[in-house]
Order: sequence, then C-alpha cells, then structure tokens
Amino acid sequence: MADHHRARIEFDPRFTVAEVPDRLFGSFVEHLGRCVYTGIYEPEHPTANADGLREDVLDLIRELGPTMIRYPGGNFVSGYRWEDGVGPKEDRPRRLDLAWGTTETNQFGLGEFMKFCRTVDVEPNMAVNLGTRGLQEALDLFEYANHPSGTYWSDLRRSHGDEEPYGIKLWCLGNEMDGPWQIGQRTATEYGRIADQTARSLRFIDGSDDLDLVACGSSSRGMPFFGAWENEVLTHTYESVDYISAHAYYHPLDGDVTSFMASAQDMELFIDGVIATADAVGAKLKSDKKINISFDEWNVWYQTAPTGERPEPWSIAPRQLEDHYSAMDAVVFGSLLITLLRRSDRVTAACLAQLVNVIAPIMTEPGGPAWRQTTFFPFAEASKYGRGTVLNVNADSPAFDTKKYGEVSALHSVAVAGEDGSVTVFAVNRDLETPMTLEIDASSVQVGDVTVSTLTDADRDAKNTLDDQDRVAPVANGDVVVKDGLITVELPAMSWNTIRIA
Ligand code: AHR
Repeated sequence: MADHHRARIEFDPRFTVAEVPDRLFGSFVEHLGRCVYTGIYEPEHPTANADGLREDVLDLIRELGPTMIRYPGGNFVSGYRWEDGVGPKEDRPRRLDLAWGTTETNQFGLGEFMKFCRTVDVEPNMAVNLGTRGLQEALDLFEYANHPSGTYWSDLRRSHGDEEPYGIKLWCLGNEMDGPWQIGQRTATEYGRIADQTARSLRFIDGSDDLDLVACGSSSRGMPFFGAWENEVLTHTYESVDYISAHAYYHPLDGDVTSFMASAQDMELFIDGVIATADAVGAKLKSDKKINISFDEWNVWYQTAPTGERPEPWSIAPRQLEDHYSAMDAVVFGSLLITLLRRSDRVTAACLAQLVNVIAPIMTEPGGPAWRQTTFFPFAEASKYGRGTVLNVNADSPAFDTKKYGEVSALHSVAVAGEDGSVTVFAVNRDLETPMTLEIDASSVQVGDVTVSTLTDADRDAKNTLDDQDRVAPVANGDVVVKDGLITVELPAMSWNTIRIA
C-alpha cells in the first residue's frame, strides 16, 4: 500500500453540470424521539421564545443553513391525523404513535411548524398521510394550509390565528409506502393509483403551476422491488408529480469501515438506477417531461446500534435514534454531500434526516445545552459555500480497495463556482490510512486568496459529546502552496476539506 497519495483535479467555469438547486440543502423534522419535543420545541427551556422554540437550537440551525425542512415524517406521518395538531393546545388529543411505539401529545403541529419555518427562514415541505388515510384528508389539509379564506378548513386556520395561507409549495405524497414497517404499506399499483389521484386533486385546489409533488420511490436501493417499484409508481404518476423520492442511510456493516468510507458509491448507483427507470417510463409514455429525484432522507445511521431499540412502550418523546457521530462518520457524510452536489442536475431536492437529536447534526439536553455533532460541519460549509454552479471536474486519483465496491478512487471531490467569481472545491480523502497531496489546476480562474478548512482526527472514533462538545471541528489547513494557478494542498487521511479560491 502506498504511504502517500498524489491526486489532481482541473475544472473550467465554462463547463458546468447544473445550478445548485436551493432545495438541495434541506433537512427533516419528524415527530420521533426528541426531534420536536426537547429538540426544537421546549417551552420550559431557559432560552425558549414566546412560541416555545429553543433559541439556542434556532441559532445552531441558522448556522447549519438548511434551506427547506420536511415534516412531520417519516414513518410517523403514515398514522398521523393532522387535525390533532391544530387549534387550542389544551384541546389537542394524545394519540398512540404506532410507527415508533410512543405517545404523541400534539402540542406541536402544523401552525407551530410554520412559525418555526418562518423563524429560521426555510421552505416547508409537508408530507400527507397515505397510510391510514387518503385523498379526502390530504385535500382537507391542503385547504387548511393553502386556501385563503371563505371555506370550512381555511376559516378554521384563520380562527386559529393564521390569517394568511401558508403557501406550502412542496408536498410529499406519503412516506416509504413499499416498506413492511410502514403503517398501511401498499403495493406499487395501489400506491401509484392513490398518489396520482391525490396529486391531480391537490392541483385542482391549487390552480397554480408551481406546486411540486413528490411520489414515494423505494425506501432504499436494497429493497426487493427497487426499480420495479419506481417503474410502476411512475407509470401511474408520471404526468401528475415532479419528483420521485430516494432514501439512503449508511453505516459500517460487520465492521467493514473501508467500504463504509466509499458509501457514496452506493448513493451514485442509487441515483443512476432511479434516473434510468424514470427516464425509461418517460420514454415509454413519449413524454417531454423529466422527473427529478428528491433525496429526502439521507445520512449516516447506525441502525443496529442500541439507540435504535424501542423505548419504554408509549412513553413521551423518549431518546430514540440518538446516534453520536464520529470524525469518520463526518467524512463519509461529507462524501454523500459531494455526491448530491455532483448529481444536482437530477437530484434537485434533498433532506438530511434529521435535524435535531434524531440521527442529527444538532444535539440537545432537556433544560440544558445544545451542541454541534461532527456531521454539522460538512453540512454547514456546503450550505454556505456550495451555492452557485456545479462545475465539471476532471480528476486523476489513486484508488483504494474495498470489499463491497472494489477499487474506489481515494479522492472524492466537486467544485462549485459562486456568483462572486469564487470557486469552492469540496474534497474528501476517503483513504483511512494514507494522506494525499492534491494539486488543483485553477488556471481557468483568477486565483487570489486560497483558504482551506479541514476536518479530521487522529482518533477516527472521536465525537462531540455533552461533556466534550468541541472535541472535533474543522481547523484552518496551512499546508497550501499557490503558484501560477496551481494550488497544492495536503489532505490528511480520512478528511473532509473545504478549499475556497476567492
Ligand atoms: O429518519 C428515520 C426514519 O427512516 C423515517 O421515519 C423513515 O422514513 C425512514 O425509514
């Protein structure tokens, strides 16, 4: 094995992949564990504002920079009665949540979510229940949310204090309807039919051209009917929806951390498969339209970890799915972000699942502090600097061997040109052992200041915890040489790097 890698990339701002879609930096708030309660919403917390939202968490969300937030699930939505979460809080019923085995108090609902979105300035992405419910309830919800006034549901919203319609443009038609764990799982034909009927009917109410609807794709690339599901669902919905969803979570299987470092390979294949299937359906239907991907759940998630176990039956907001992320997880996470940017010609919406406490970049203690997990940093940097136009990058990189994906290039990178003439290169060295010298041919742009921030750690399992909240964070990387348009940067083994060329 080499003890040092050398890699090289080049780009030219004239050769582009796509404008970075605003919705690429979405996230996700589900009624699950402590994402809502004692996550974003905790009226008794010392920092809570008048709406019961934790200001310490709001500050971190603003720093993280999500552009859109999906709500209220996830598996939760497939048993959810949205009416339970509106109106006077004292009248709201408690319900069993069968998805996660807990009790839902409904003290946070649609109106609170909309206030939250306005407070952190993100676009809402609302999911409807196509598990235990169907078309009529979706129409009622849509009318409550988006119709101005003069009807039962719109006037009910106004009576709840929200005079103006919410104007929600992005809607998910159910969640993971292929999964046996889903309340009200459906076959592809059953789901395709109801998704199409729901989509068409929502458009009857809306009447505008800028409603964006997401049909459920497979719950993962590993599902038995992956491909066949998308084919059948899109055959029913091709002309009535805009997106097909994709969900993917990664963790090391059987301790195989080398393959884990290359998880983005699976995400790439997933995207290729969904796009090929969607385009084949479009061709079959002789349609000019293109269906894009809403990658509306993605993350590292240790699904076999004890945090995934069921809590005390029917408890309220217990600790569930509270993964603590390592430096290694953050580097893999960064690589997934690079894939989303590289494929943003067809992945035009995406949601980091989730936002707070539940497989999340932000952690909180009830009544206590909030802090950044390791995965916070790649997302914040990508959302801040990865805006503009994705450039075509030619890369020459040595490879490393993985059990799951064979030979994989050690360098994983993307370049984004900002409107201000800057270019940002996001680069991951996926090799766990071997550092890398990266040469960037930047002769096609004006090279002024070059700054590099690097996240790595000698201990790949290092984490940020309640007791050590700042153990892992990106640091300025001084190992940079700039000469005649050639930038040479030293990338440590297992590192996420943000290289700003201003
Ligand atoms: O994000 C956690 C869960 O993962 C979601 O509820 C579900 O959609 C997916 O299986």
